[in-house]
Amino acid sequence: MKVALIGYGKMGHEIEKILLDRGHQIILIIDKDNQPDIKSEKFKAADVAIEFTTPHSAIENIKASTLAGVPLVCGSTGWLDRLPEMEAFVTQNNGGLFYASNFSLGVNIFFHVNEYLAKIMAKLKDYSVEMEEWHHNQKLDAPSGTAITLAEHILKEYPQKTGWVNESTTDDSKLGIISIRKGDIPGIHTVTYNSPVDTITLTHDAKSRQGFALGAVLAAEYLVGKKGIHTMNDLLTL
Ligand SMILES: NC(=O)c1ccc[n+]([C@@H]2O[C@H](COP(=O)([O-])OP(=O)(O)OC[C@H]3O[C@@H](n4cnc5c(N)ncnc54)[C@H](O)[C@@H]3O)[C@@H](O)[C@H]2O)c1
Repeated sequence: MKVALIGYGKMGHEIEKILLDRGHQIILIIDKDNQPDIKSEKFKAADVAIEFTTPHSAIENIKASTLAGVPLVCGSTGWLDRLPEMEAFVTQNNGGLFYASNFSLGVNIFFHVNEYLAKIMAKLKDYSVEMEEWHHNQKLDAPSGTAITLAEHILKEYPQKTGWVNESTTDDSKLGIISIRKGDIPGIHTVTYNSPVDTITLTHDAKSRQGFALGAVLAAEYLVGKKGIHTMNDLLTL
C-alpha cells in the first residue's frame, strides 16, 4: 500500500521500519517543517495515512486527511475529549478514521483483563483501587491515553465514583491516577487493588515502541478502502 506518514518522531521512525519490512511504500513524510504538504496532490495519492504527532495537531490532521479523501490511522493521544466532534466530522465528510489510545496487542488484551477484574473487584468493598503510569519525560499529555481508557473501564463498574483525578487520592468518589515521567520509558501501566490483607496488581510493561508501531501498521492495512470509524476492537477478535 502507498502510505503517508504524518509525524516523523519516535513513533514515526518505528513505523517507517515496519512499513518497509512489510513491503509497503512510503510516498510522503510530513513533519513540522512541511505541514502544508497534507494539502498536496502527493498526499491525496496515499491509500492511507498514519499520524503520530501531538494532541493539538491530531485534530487538524484528522480534518485535513478526511477532506483529502485519505483514510487516517491516528495514534496521537490527548485529544479524545473531542472524539464525538471528530467522529461527526469524519462521518459527514465520508472519511475513514482508525484511532486507538494504544495500538499494542498486549495492551488491548490488558484492557479486556482490566474490565473483567474491575467487574469482580467493584463488588468487594474492602479493596480500594488506584492506577499508576510511567512514561518517558518528553510525553506531553498526562495521564496517558491508555491510562484514561483503563480508568473509563474501571469507572463503568464503580457507580459511586464520578471520575478520575491525576493524583493519588483518598476521596472514594474519585479514581486516582498517578503519572510519572522519567528517562525513556515506552509505557508502564499498573492497576492496583489494595485491601488490609493483600494487594492485587495488574501491570503491562512495554519493552519498546515496536508493539505500538506494528499495531498501527496492521490498523493501516485494515483501513485501506474503508470508510467510517474503526478501533482495535474491529481489528482484533479478542
Ligand atoms: N496510540 C499509541 O499506541 C501510541 C504509542 C506511542 C505514542 N503515542 C502518541 O503518539 C504521539 C507521538 O509520539 P512520539 O513518541 O512519536 O512523539 P515525538 O515527539 O517523538 O514525535 C512527534 C513528531 O510529530 C511532529 N509534529 C508535531 N506537530 C506536527 C504537525 N502538525 N504535522 C506533522 N508533524 C508534526 C514533531 O515535529 C515530531 O517529530 C503522542 O501523542 C504519543 O502520546 C501513541
